[in-house]
Amino acid sequence: MFFAILTLFPEALEPYTRSSILGIAQAKGLVEIALVDFRDFTRDRHRTVDDRPFGGGPGMVLKPEPILDCVEWLERRHGPFRKLLLTPAGEPFRQETARKLVEEERILLLCGRYEGIDERVREELEWDEISMGDFVLAGGELPALAVTEAVSRLVPGVLGDDRSAESESFEGGGGLDHPHYTRPRVFRGRAVPEVLVSGDHGAIEAWRAGEARDRTRARRPDLIPEELKAENER
Ligand SMILES: C[S@@+](CC[C@H](N)C(=O)[O-])C[C@H]1O[C@@H](n2cnc3c(N)ncnc32)[C@H](O)[C@@H]1O
Repeated sequence: MFFAILTLFPEALEPYTRSSILGIAQAKGLVEIALVDFRDFTRDRHRTVDDRPFGGGPGMVLKPEPILDCVEWLERRHGPFRKLLLTPAGEPFRQETARKLVEEERILLLCGRYEGIDERVREELEWDEISMGDFVLAGGELPALAVTEAVSRLVPGVLGDDRSAESESFEGGGGLDHPHYTRPRVFRGRAVPEVLVSGDHGAIEAWRAGEARDRTRARRPDLIPEELKAENER
């Protein structure tokens, strides 16, 4: 699977993409991540990527030409990409979005900066607009890394055990995960729940399912499907 991340700050992303899961996924040849600086697609002496907003107001806006030239060059070279525009005005990113994206061969992520990107970039090409949540970051780099990591860990073979991805929050029934424990068995007077050391796999599964259900009800009732909510109320 090939990711192209279009950014003005490739050096900020480089160490992260070489570390941990993303580093391993690339070393295994399952994922390839290209960090593409769209400043390289400017045509003027000053390598200008931004300009003042028409209509006035604070800040600068990213110009359309270098971005579109960069995207078109990548598509000529590699073929079509599923194109994601990172913006607070996009659809909130969810685990199910990651599950859909893992079916793609090539994903392009465009990181905005400053006041944002000239609207004609959005109009000129087909984009999925993705938001990381209802807050404003200085750039699309952290969202791009988050999407790349969430999708990459779903590529078969990237995680040590592919079942890990299936048993996590937002997967399966869509609720939250159950609590986890490891050694020591007693830590600062707090003992691991007895059932987890009972060796009774049926009881362990039932305990985990119950904890996950209670946690979801208490913290994220919005994740419970309507039909289940109605059932619980009966
Ligand atoms: C300072 S923000 C621009 C915010 C924009 N003027 C607005 O109010 O919606 C600069 C860039 O950061 C990225 N960004 C900031 N917050 C984001 C979020 N919650 N989700 C995705 N991208 C975000 C986008 O790429 C955006 O173009």
